[in-house]
Amino acid sequence: MAQSKITRLTHKPPAEIEREWDAIAFVREEQILQGKDISFSKVLLPAIVDLSTCSKFDRVIDVGCGLGFIMEALSSRSKYLLGVDLSGQSIRLAQRRFVHANHVHFYHGSVEDFSMRSALEKFSLAIANMTLMTSTDLDSVLHSVAKLLQVGAHLVFTITHPCYWARYWGYESEEWFRYDEEIFIEAPFKITGNVGDLVTTHVHRPLFQYINSLQKAGFCVEAVKEPFPPSDVDAEYLSTWQYPRFLAIRCVRT
Ligand SMILES: C[S@@+](CC[C@H](N)C(=O)[O-])C[C@H]1O[C@@H](n2cnc3c(N)ncnc32)[C@H](O)[C@@H]1O
Repeated sequence: MAQSKITRLTHKPPAEIEREWDAIAFVREEQILQGKDISFSKVLLPAIVDLSTCSKFDRVIDVGCGLGFIMEALSSRSKYLLGVDLSGQSIRLAQRRFVHANHVHFYHGSVEDFSMRSALEKFSLAIANMTLMTSTDLDSVLHSVAKLLQVGAHLVFTITHPCYWARYWGYESEEWFRYDEEIFIEAPFKITGNVGDLVTTHVHRPLFQYINSLQKAGFCVEAVKEPFPPSDVDAEYLSTWQYPRFLAIRCVRT
């Protein structure tokens, strides 16, 4: 049901996260195919491509692959490419664009479930574009990804910037917001110039939580980017970026 408000929740189960991304899948497909999501195409995708340039592409897993657009960009470099997502609707739409790509596969379910089913399937690279802050349990996702990776393999991910997203979305001044807490937030999904009526949930986590969880799961941070749009793209945004909106990290599985 449509909601216009940003709301703090105590928790949201993965089944509801799945329903939210199922419901928005067609809208996201249209936004990305028509180039309306400039942060996706001009900021996040280039950051992922750049950070994974030095990675091994033999066996790649896209954690929270959604509609598979990041997979599409990495597909020609990969020998085996697997997309995993909670949202069955997103996967069904993604599959339509890969019908002739025999090296591309999908798993509908959580990465936690997948890691329990496939103890022997080790990957050389994991990608997670804007997935970790939609995951309800960061430790369990990172442990599952670590389990799926070969030693020395990379995890390359982007997230909403833990230090600046609250300011950008305007909930920094809400009385319920505390930077140093994990907070579930339900809000209408928005991209630049477009606030829809469909709701998704993200989890605010302080930066130290991400770094500590990565370390606990067996990852070592190798490279960090706070990507900005190129100057010719900046004008397409409603307001100039004064601070980073996203954080992009490459880690190595130790
Ligand atoms: C913001 S969307 C990003 C989708 C895609 N990576 C992209 O770049 O367009 C986050 C996705 O992560 C998925 N997701 C969240 N937690 C997950 C988990 N534990 N296992 C698998 N997928 C998950 C959601 O279903 C959703 O499709």
